[in-house]
Amino acid sequence: MPRQKPSIRPHIDALHPYVPGEQPQGLKLIKLNTNENPYGPSKRVLEAVKKATSDQLRRYPHPTADPLRARLAEIHKCSVDQIIVGNGSDELLALATRAFVTPTTASLRGSNRGANIIQYFTPSYSLYPVLTAIHDAKKNEVPLTPSFAIPGPAALAKSSWNPRAALTFITTPNAPSGRAYKRSELRRLCETTGGVVILDEAYVDFAEEDAMDLTKEFEHVIVSRTFSKAYSLCFQRIGYFVGSEPLVTALHKIRDSYNVNGLAQVAALATLDDLAYYRKNFRTVIKERDRLTHALIKAGFKVFPSAANFLLVTPPKKSPPASAWYEGLREAGILVRWFSDPSIDQHLRITIGSPEQNKALMTRIRAMQKT
Ligand SMILES: Cc1ncc(COP(=O)(O)O)c(C=O)c1O
Repeated sequence: MPRQKPSIRPHIDALHPYVPGEQPQGLKLIKLNTNENPYGPSKRVLEAVKKATSDQLRRYPHPTADPLRARLAEIHKCSVDQIIVGNGSDELLALATRAFVTPTTASLRGSNRGANIIQYFTPSYSLYPVLTAIHDAKKNEVPLTPSFAIPGPAALAKSSWNPRAALTFITTPNAPSGRAYKRSELRRLCETTGGVVILDEAYVDFAEEDAMDLTKEFEHVIVSRTFSKAYSLCFQRIGYFVGSEPLVTALHKIRDSYNVNGLAQVAALATLDDLAYYRKNFRTVIKERDRLTHALIKAGFKVFPSAANFLLVTPPKKSPPASAWYEGLREAGILVRWFSDPSIDQHLRITIGSPEQNKALMTRIRAMQKT
């Protein structure tokens, strides 16, 4: 039989994949680049994971993570059927594109009817455009204001905002700016948007307000949460969605049969049994956020107000560009995030570390200012 040339779908062949923050292995570096928590999981979580590392590993985990969903349903005062757990919230964001958005078929090419449109504000989570491209959907990027606010109703009406977009992602608090959005403002957007709206609350535990209530008010609104950031479980990959039953049921239909590994389910359940430990950590991170903000302002940086566990900062005028600061910090073993996208390449995103890590960061910054 003649060999056939393997074919790759053209839009996948042309794809620029998501670029995650650098993840060097080893704990020597001061890692302030991917918004991980400086504090480890609680002792109860470590014990639960150790206990589960047993003969049990040969068994499949719970296919729908029911014990965890039951506990989450109690916390969020909703039914178990309104919750889906994923291999990180990233997995669920990808599933949402597949469940709710029609790829750009010939009949939809050039169409503005919305079925193939995924929209989001820019700048926000850099995964959204990649998910859009993977799904061969049409992206609609709507710029935030220069201070990363959502444009008001009049400005939004004049922008490319499309109330008929099949799927809208809103990162709240925003990443990479850290800016918080009011529930009332998000409600207004949900009211005027017809397709599915996902409020990505990856950083909400560091903010004053959340928008979970909107899932009770609107059938087309989903809130996305993760155990990665506030709950120190990046390594385990676990996140979840809360939304109306029809939307969540659709997502369950297309997920892998065992999409959440067993140790992650155990770790997440034990996390929810020790919330007091985590709440204390949130308070420490928030206090450190204030201290670091002041220290950076004193050193001449512009710091955007943040409701998350990171700061977006602009280096002082007449100092080297942000990329040079990134390199200089890296040479000293301190990793922060610099994005090459022209809309944010003049800034650095710095995760709030422990007091010692933040002190080392400021010491290096001051040393760089002297040279
Ligand atoms: C806004 C936002 N949403 C979702 C995620 C993904 O989180 P997870 O680790 O649950 O996949 C991140 C991670 O950086 C994020 O910044």
